[in-house]
Amino acid sequence: MAITPKTGADIDGMRTACRLAAEVLDMLTPHVKAGITTLQLDKIALDFIVNVQGCISATVGYAPPGYPPFPASICTSINHVVCHGIPNERPLKDGDIVNIDVTVIKDGWHGDTSRMFIVGEGSIQARRLVQLTYEAMWRGIVRVKPGARLGDIGHSIQSFAESQGFSVVREFCGHGIGRKFHEEPQVLHYGRPGTMDELVPGMTFTIEPMINAGRREIRELGDGWTIVTKDRSLSAQWEHTVLVTDTGYEVLTLSAGSPPPPAFVAA
Ligand code: MF3
Ligand code: CO
Ligand code: CO
Repeated sequence: MAITPKTGADIDGMRTACRLAAEVLDMLTPHVKAGITTLQLDKIALDFIVNVQGCISATVGYAPPGYPPFPASICTSINHVVCHGIPNERPLKDGDIVNIDVTVIKDGWHGDTSRMFIVGEGSIQARRLVQLTYEAMWRGIVRVKPGARLGDIGHSIQSFAESQGFSVVREFCGHGIGRKFHEEPQVLHYGRPGTMDELVPGMTFTIEPMINAGRREIRELGDGWTIVTKDRSLSAQWEHTVLVTDTGYEVLTLSAGSPPPPAFVAA
């Protein structure tokens, strides 16, 4: 099997890296206000990651084959930006929805998580998309247990999102994570129950659905990173890193500031 389950100290290493990633988002939260630029948020995040947490940013200089090096410590994806938005000089404004995605490395282990932020009150449609995308992520998470299959997770997310009139982005997916940022398996956010890899205890991967208010098609901007919806409809994303336990799942990217799970998730 290509996926090596993690044990013992490896899992503790993942727990620490993942909590630290979530704590970057906690720290940023009070700064996410109208008027601040995403470049300013990036500076605040990088300083905290390096000088407070003693971590390395996994995204600064990250350059998978065919991509230019990513220049920042966070991805900031606003409104119709689906993912991989590059921090820039544009100030956030009232009504924006923004995903902030952060990945840190601690002792060689990667922790990867993202949350949505609504600047000011947001439109009814924006609030609904953000809330239901959060629920979609959790509809995937609760499927995680030994013996389940990756297709069960994807199906759960897709059927829920589409039942709400939204669409699921196909070109980007969750991923195994550990000593490498992106490793096997690919965790699709769509699919059929009972298909794809079987989950085994010790696997760690992300679940990070990108859900569009309009059509699912996307396109890439000329910067080589930024992904937007083709129809310019709003897009939202949430991300957790999870561990398959002997009986179910453990969400690793939790912190004091994590929003509570939706009501349907058993305590
Ligand atoms: N954090 C993203 C993910 O969830 C990947 C960002 S790569 C970057 O997989 F280079 F754009 F930062
Ligand atoms: Co990820
Ligand atoms: Co991420």
